[in-house]
Amino acid sequence: MTLRYMPGAGHLYGAEYARNPQAVYAELRRRHGAVAPVEIAPGVEAHLVIGYQAAVDVLTNVGGVWSKHPSAWQSRLPDTPEAAGMIAMLGHRPNALFSDGATHFRYRKAISDCFQQIQPHKLRQLVTEVSDSLISQFAAKGEADLVSDFGRLIPARIFNLLFGRPDSDSAGLTQALSDLMEADGETGARGSDALTRYIGELIQAKYAERGDDLTSWFIDHPAALQPDELAHTLVLVVAASYEPTANLISNTISRMVSDDRYYSSLTNGALSTYDALMEALRVEPAMSNYGPYFVLQPVHFHGTWIQPAELVLVSYEAANTEPVIVPDELRSDGGAYLGFGAGAHRCPASDPAVVIAMTAIERLTSHLCDLELTVPREELEWRPGPFHRALAHLPVRFTPIRPDQPGDTPWAQPPSSLIPSEPISPARSAGYATSAPWSS
Ligand code: HEM
Repeated sequence: MTLRYMPGAGHLYGAEYARNPQAVYAELRRRHGAVAPVEIAPGVEAHLVIGYQAAVDVLTNVGGVWSKHPSAWQSRLPDTPEAAGMIAMLGHRPNALFSDGATHFRYRKAISDCFQQIQPHKLRQLVTEVSDSLISQFAAKGEADLVSDFGRLIPARIFNLLFGRPDSDSAGLTQALSDLMEADGETGARGSDALTRYIGELIQAKYAERGDDLTSWFIDHPAALQPDELAHTLVLVVAASYEPTANLISNTISRMVSDDRYYSSLTNGALSTYDALMEALRVEPAMSNYGPYFVLQPVHFHGTWIQPAELVLVSYEAANTEPVIVPDELRSDGGAYLGFGAGAHRCPASDPAVVIAMTAIERLTSHLCDLELTVPREELEWRPGPFHRALAHLPVRFTPIRPDQPGDTPWAQPPSSLIPSEPISPARSAGYATSAPWSS
């Protein structure tokens, strides 16, 4: 399918875009204004909404002008491997993300109600345990890749436990999700199959025996989700939590360890982890362009004609970083702007996501309080792909931490007793925290 709006299209794929998406947005803004033509893979086209006001206009008019239903677009996709690769992320599934109106309300209410049942203090405890166990794997080495050793391992492990499965199942879930997020068709399809298997086994186990867990709450929710609806809802929950939360953790840490305003916060409290999270959500939102929307009728929108069956992607990243002053009353979240979306489909799990990311980062930075990047931030590698802002690696070094005595582990002690006596870099010796900021 070749659309008429191709001239001047930007490419949201390849190493160049991954390295510097802002350069692509700036050029698109200069040439096209608030809505710009792009290719999300070779031959797969979309309108990218890059203006902040235009993004808000889409997100807050779902059900009127806009729809989340991708079927018309999907049926006109070209028959190419590149187009097939997009289906894992954009193809229709009977879940909240791809439905409108009463159907959307029913799915979404089940999600919101079940997430309400997660006690923040219990979630914090779970994240603390998982984070400490991950940190203990690399703390004695003095170096780590905080993407592969930490950030990407946390969400799947947490959700595997929240779903009510043994920790031993989390490795399979992590691999399935990692494959699903890759844009190449074969890997995406493998991940999708593995995830379907995991969810099938999970549902079977919980139908047989309920527990105090998310899956059981979904099964017993008054929305009375049918087995296939339940499966799609659980897939959405775990897929929607994995990539954004992993990226939020890594993106935030990368800012904290490379910006003295935040580094100071590790040591003497200038700006907090929360400030860093909000900044990451605004400037490098984890799901940078993953806002798929469609029009129900032809619409002339911010200077561009958009037809039904054409894909529109809201770029949270471009909109949030538009070089204009955004009035406070337009913000969806103090400081995060559209990092969690807005309107009817705004992330229903933004609070638990912040708890997970904050707790994980604060565990890490209180145990390893002299973290520093091994390469300048500008040289960090970002994973290619049209939908996410995701670091490929986050290499850091720090003073190794070892148990004080044989048989002991640092993880049994309060973080304050783990603080090394000497910083690894004299430039960063402004003083060390004496206790974890959230500890009570
Ligand atoms: C606890 C982890 C998370 C879970 C379980 C979760 C779940 C969800 C679900 C179910 C939706 C679809 C809602 C609907 O269509 O009504 C959604 C939407 C969204 N989420 Fe999350 N999410 C999580 C973390 C995050 C994080 C960390 C970010 C950003 C950094 C994020 C950004 C978004 C955005 C931008 C949308 C809106 C997409 C759109 O406009 O279509 N989410 N999330």
